[in-house]
Amino acid sequence: MYADLIDFDTTGKVSADIFHSEETYRRELSTVFARSWLFLAHESQLRAPGDFVTALMGEDPVIVSRQRDGGIRAVLNVCRHRGMRVCRQDSGNTKRFTCSFHGWTYDTAGELVKVPRETEGYHDRLDKKGWSLTPVTRVESYRGMVFGTWDPDAPALIDYLETARPALDSFIDTLGSDIELAGPMKWRIRGNWKMPAEGLGTDGYHAETTHASALQAIGGMAEPSRIFQYSSAAGHAAAMTDLGVTQRMHEKAGVGPSPHGTNDTVTVAHATVFPNFSFIGYSGPLRVWQPRGPEEMEVWGWVAVPAGLDAETRRQKLRGVTVSFSSSGVFECDDSENWSEIAAVGRGFVARSTPLNYQMGMGFDDPAGTDLPGFDVRTGHLFNDIGARGFYTRWAELMDGPELALTPSAPPPGA
Ligand code: FES
Ligand code: FE
Repeated sequence: MYADLIDFDTTGKVSADIFHSEETYRRELSTVFARSWLFLAHESQLRAPGDFVTALMGEDPVIVSRQRDGGIRAVLNVCRHRGMRVCRQDSGNTKRFTCSFHGWTYDTAGELVKVPRETEGYHDRLDKKGWSLTPVTRVESYRGMVFGTWDPDAPALIDYLETARPALDSFIDTLGSDIELAGPMKWRIRGNWKMPAEGLGTDGYHAETTHASALQAIGGMAEPSRIFQYSSAAGHAAAMTDLGVTQRMHEKAGVGPSPHGTNDTVTVAHATVFPNFSFIGYSGPLRVWQPRGPEEMEVWGWVAVPAGLDAETRRQKLRGVTVSFSSSGVFECDDSENWSEIAAVGRGFVARSTPLNYQMGMGFDDPAGTDLPGFDVRTGHLFNDIGARGFYTRWAELMDGPELALTPSAPPPGA
């Protein structure tokens, strides 16, 4: 039982093995990633029919595209002939995807529309309708954010996001509602995907140590006593504060003030939508921590910017964010080093068997700590592992639940 590897009732311990085990990782793909809603794209990337981006759902590659009827559809980016990746670009506009192995060609809805040598090879008996690209079971949007899930029984996206919406809404509203994404920038690092997912949800504690030099350069941390940790039974986690605190922090860092909201507007500092979609409020970095093995991940990073910015303002904004959060960003490099070192040292037999401490704040959760709305467990203190405890509780529930049953909406072989 994966629930036995965490204990938040008495000891506050988590097994280190969950960050290193190949077996655990394989099960995450068929439970956590197969059953959750996963961030795929933003609608601003898919404005015209034929616009597409490629994305990942766990380790499964998908193509997300705007259809002629205005809908958004996602299909597995794996050719039905020999399993080649069909689309090898990050984004573009097209009517057709042609596989570069033998030339099978699919339309943007995933229908197989052309097969080279169909007459000579298949004697015109190939049922092309039976060999479409496998569709992602459900694709839904929330305020321009496009998510997909393989699980036909998942709740509606809006319900799945229920306890993440205060954070997500704040992220979008602070940027001025109408946003578009720049990126993605992609890079690989050593480390288990859960570390940054947990961290962006809950770990304000690391900042004063990990980012000591950077914080010294910008004059110290914002008022920690006014930042509140949130946790959710759905696994989402966030740190929320008011815009005044966030604004003073970012002004110190050289990112200009936000025109959106007044000082007491509730603002997300950082958050994770379970399982692997994170963002940092006000300045606009978005992350998907793509799993690439128990000890490796691919980081996909975008920056959300207000739509319609003039080129110079946009360039300055992107530069400001890139200096702090990107593959070479000051803060991000500090963070990545921790995650990579944990992966490296945790391979040891004794290290993997030594439990880790998630006790911070246990027993001191304060439901009345703040009036900030939306999360079903809350605490009035930044220095608390409550978000991580919620994250791993949900994680264990999914891990101990059934794997996604593959009764493919894709047609059976030979159909
Ligand atoms: Fe795609 Fe053969 S693998 S056409
Ligand atoms: Fe950090």
